[in-house]
Amino acid sequence: MKTWITLLLLLAATSQTHAALENTTCKSCHPVIFEEYQKSIHSKASIYKDVVHKAVWDKHPAKAKGNYKCAKCHTPSDHDVMNGKSKLADNEIQRTEPISCQQCHKIESVEKHAKVNKNILTTKPKTFFSADKELKGTKVVFKEESSFFGMFTKKSGSPYHDIDYSNEGYYNGDSCMGCHSHKQNSKGFAVCDLEVKQGDSKESCVSCHLPQVQGSLANQKESATHAFHGQSIHNTTPELLSKYIKLSLDKNANGFNVNIKNEATHTLFPQPLRLNQLKVSIERDGKIIDLKIESFARVIGTDGKPSMPWLADAIISDTSIKALETRTVKYDDVLKEGDTVVVKFGYYVVNPKAAKKLEITDKSVTEFIVLTKKRFSI
Ligand code: HEC
Ligand code: HEC
Ligand code: HEC
Ligand code: HEC
Ligand code: HEC
Repeated sequence: MKTWITLLLLLAATSQTHAALENTTCKSCHPVIFEEYQKSIHSKASIYKDVVHKAVWDKHPAKAKGNYKCAKCHTPSDHDVMNGKSKLADNEIQRTEPISCQQCHKIESVEKHAKVNKNILTTKPKTFFSADKELKGTKVVFKEESSFFGMFTKKSGSPYHDIDYSNEGYYNGDSCMGCHSHKQNSKGFAVCDLEVKQGDSKESCVSCHLPQVQGSLANQKESATHAFHGQSIHNTTPELLSKYIKLSLDKNANGFNVNIKNEATHTLFPQPLRLNQLKVSIERDGKIIDLKIESFARVIGTDGKPSMPWLADAIISDTSIKALETRTVKYDDVLKEGDTVVVKFGYYVVNPKAAKKLEITDKSVTEFIVLTKKRFSI
């Protein structure tokens, strides 16, 4: 009897640890990608790791009702919270893999809805979608072929799972759009909208945000490069993205213009808490002259005044820079020969005014971050 109970307890314990961490298996064969992922915001999207998400959740009316509906995008890998078995609580999934490897790699399609889109995951066990231009359209099924009466075995594909290279969403980024397209609040107002426009651009979510960087994609398959998995504007790798924002300057008799060419296929800094700014100064005769600061933001609110996202029902003003737009900012300061104009284009993760209201003091999100800058010698 006692041994039975011990066995049952043991089983319960192992099934729990088994359910706990999905990424552990991936780590053993994809160590480089796994390490990168640890630094990404996708591994830190829960209230236990993202101070900004926590600050907003703490003030959100749904918190009092204990209804963590943010889970479908922020922590979909916490399956017990997703299917209502348990309430939001601190655990290893929330802390280390709220959006696990599988959560992205099993997205078969994205269902479009006005309120929020929905990810449809494949039900095929151990099948992951991926992109590879040379293998596009093919499916790699793991098999061990025996020959010579089993004396030699030949392995193909991954020794752990099947790979489906035929899903367009992993080439053009449609697989990102279940979570990233838009989100309406309970008033049916779009709190954020990436407003994607493809235009003539050859780039996609995948080419810009998962560029090929050095390091092998798997232990068992030596490759020179792999797709970057450390997406985050917080901790931050501006050099990966700054090349898609081109700054230029035209001088005229009455002053000058600064042009910002946005090559991204979406609105810049669409998240309502961000504040995007252009800071320009002139270095003249050993002195620095700071010029007016230009802000680009989509301000949302109620009754003509800015308000928190769950209360907002209208756009108060929108100066955000849209997909593939070139924005020109005029300055009435006449330039002289020998001047150097310093142009900085950057952002606050949290608009300082909102940070105050939300009581966020963490320096990493309240300081101005330069995305790209350029010096122009006149
Ligand atoms: C036992 C080792 C092993 C484990 C465990 C493993 N993989 Fe793999 N995986 C591989 C190998 C080897 C390849 C390369 C196969 C090829 O290119 O033929 C691969 C390829 C992939 C690819 C496609 C790469 C491409 O070429 O585009 C994805 C996506 C992937 N793995 C995801 C995962 C995820 C997610 C997990 C964890 C749930 C995981 N893998 C666990 C060995 C493994
Ligand atoms: C439809 C998917 C979706 C849902 C549902 C969702 N979010 Fe998000 N959230 C996102 C995405 C995607 C981002 C990243 C957007 C970006 O950076 O432009 C984000 C970013 C945020 C940020 C900014 C985080 C930062 O570090 O700057 C906050 C705050 C936030 N969400 C709060 C919430 C809260 C609170 C809820 C639930 C009441 C919620 N979200 C529900 C998709 C979602
Ligand atoms: C399961 C939902 C989900 C999917 C799928 C997803 N993301 Fe995200 N992503 C998020 C959430 C949620 C955040 C914001 C987390 C936060 O700030 O707390 C985010 C943040 C980001 C950020 C960084 C923004 C920032 O504030 O640092 C980038 C870039 C990004 N995602 C790109 C992508 C790309 C590219 C894809 C597709 C290959 C993708 N994501 C797929 C949910 C998702
Ligand atoms: C041509 C390159 C390019 C393409 C294509 C592109 N992005 Fe971006 N993305 C950028 C740049 C540059 C930034 C930095 C500015 C910013 O944060 O808005 C950025 C920022 C982001 C952010 C963070 C926004 C924030 O401020 O929190 C998210 C999320 C994101 N992209 C998702 C996507 C998704 C999803 C797609 C596909 C629909 C996509 N991107 C396509 C260049 C690109
Ligand atoms: C936000 C969604 C997302 C998450 C989370 C994610 N991946 Fe990926 N991954 C992708 C996309 C999209 C691609 C296709 C990019 C390409 O091959 O160009 C990809 C490519 C890969 C590849 C092939 C790399 C190459 O260069 O072809 C491997 C292997 C892989 N992922 C493993 C993982 C592992 C392991 C994790 C967890 C530690 C993980 N992924 C988490 C979206 C994601």
